[in-house]
Amino acid sequence: MSNPGGKPYALIRRLTIADIDRIIEIERHAYPHPWTRGNFLDCLRSSYGCFGLQLGEDLAGYSIFNWAVGEAHLLNLCVGPKWQGQSYGSLMLERTIDFVTLRGNQSMFLEVRASNPRAVVLYKKHGFKVIGHRRGYYRADGGREDAIVMGLQLT
Ligand SMILES: CC(C)(COP(=O)(O)OP(=O)(O)OC[C@H]1O[C@@H](n2cnc3c(N)ncnc32)[C@H](O)[C@@H]1OP(=O)(O)O)[C@@H](O)C(=O)NCCC(=O)NCCS
Repeated sequence: MSNPGGKPYALIRRLTIADIDRIIEIERHAYPHPWTRGNFLDCLRSSYGCFGLQLGEDLAGYSIFNWAVGEAHLLNLCVGPKWQGQSYGSLMLERTIDFVTLRGNQSMFLEVRASNPRAVVLYKKHGFKVIGHRRGYYRADGGREDAIVMGLQLT
């Protein structure tokens, strides 16, 4: 089914274990250093927030996050390559921010690879500010890569 603009209807829904194969498929296409199946299963079996972007029949992306003592942490935001650049990343980020705000959190944090300016731009557009760096935080080809730490005050 599609809307009058010809795009499939977008729905944000909770992920379940049944989505795991599709999640892994998207993750491996979207990241040079993807999360493992075990990483996702741990999140799905815990009380973490696990949102999926459903576009018609397709699971097209996801947002994984958690929160405690007033602070939310965005762990993974991903849109399948086929669907990137069409505002779906923004949509999922907005829904995630709304969700953690409604649960009474005062701030939200995330880490992003220094080599991922596209994601940094997306986060800045949604009000995140750079608050620090973590040296060698990520695995990278032939070594380690720094993380940019970003934070958002929630209203
Ligand atoms: C980063 C990611 C989630 C963004 O999702 P998206 O749906 O492609 O992004 P959107 O279409 O909502 O675009 C949001 C903003 O990102 C920037 N952006 C999007 N596509 C871009 C491109 N091809 N080049 C540069 N900037 C781009 C733009 O500033 C855009 O805002 P605009 O449309 O008002 O100009 C997505 O590209 C992705 O999943 N990448 C691989 C995984 C990843 O890196 N995740 C982030 C980990 S921290």
